[in-house]
Order: sequence, then structure tokens, then C-alpha cells
Amino acid sequence: MNKELLELVQDQINFELESAYLYLSMSTWAVDNGYPGTGLWMEKQAHEETEHALKMTHYLQEVNQRVLLKPINGVPTEFPGFMDLFKLSLEHEQKVTARINHIYETALNAKEHAAANFYAWFVKEQVEEEAILHDIITRLDKVPTPIGIMMMDDRLRNRA
Ligand SMILES: [Fe+2]
Ligand SMILES: [Fe+2]
Repeated sequence: MNKELLELVQDQINFELESAYLYLSMSTWAVDNGYPGTGLWMEKQAHEETEHALKMTHYLQEVNQRVLLKPINGVPTEFPGFMDLFKLSLEHEQKVTARINHIYETALNAKEHAAANFYAWFVKEQVEEEAILHDIITRLDKVPTPIGIMMMDDRLRNRA
């Protein structure tokens, strides 16, 4: 595999795990602050990020490449408020999207078609992730009151 591409994938495994760590931190903050539905939603989000890291790990193994795990950066443990969880999540996902797009482009430029095909799934996944967060923020913006927040927390409890 192209060396630059391999390093990008290895780094992305690390970043997906950092994402999982961030969402787990948001989950515990939400539970501690009386938003159990959001705690559950963020926990599932953390699961998904771990799955992404595993998907990429398995991909590297499948194509006989070394997986190098690096230290995971610390994440915030305090958040200004309920709405900030989602604004910070959206900002985080936009960073992920830029990284995924860069990996996809690098794969295309290196004519690594299998890797490009593998990352196409993540390109689509990022569109969904951003859309979901955007939707939550838009709804909260419409009713930015304690009742609106409680309704959203209830809604988030039911994430499949
Ligand atoms: Fe992810
Ligand atoms: Fe994500």
C-alpha cells in the first residue's frame, strides 16, 4: 500500500478511537447532569466510532498491512451546556469529514482503488453523521427552553 495512504489510515484509526473517547466523555457528562437519554445516545455514538476504528483495523489486516496504535489524546470532561454537546459534536464530525475526504482523495491519486472503494463508505457515513447533528441543533434552536431540552433528551433515548 502507498506509504502516505497507510499512515493516514493508521492515524485515522487513532482519531476514530479519540472520537469514541470524546463521545464517551459527553455521555458521562450528560448522565451526571440529568440527561440520561443523551447519555445513552452519546454512548451509542462512542460504540459507532469504535466500530469505525475496528473496520479500518480489519481492512489493514485484510490487505496485509501493519496496524500501529498510537497514544490517544485527552478529551474535555466538562461542557458548557446541553446544546454545546451537539455543536461540539458537529464541529468534531466536520473535522472527521475533512480527514476522510483527504484519505479518499489520496487513495484515488495513488490509484489505490480498493482503498478508495473502502473509504467511499465512510464518505457517505459522514454525510449522515453531520445531517443528524445538524437536525438536532436545528430542533433545539427552535425551542431553546428547558422543556425543549427535556423533549430532545427523551427523543434521543430512542436511538436504534
Ligand atoms: Fe467515525
Ligand atoms: Fe462520527
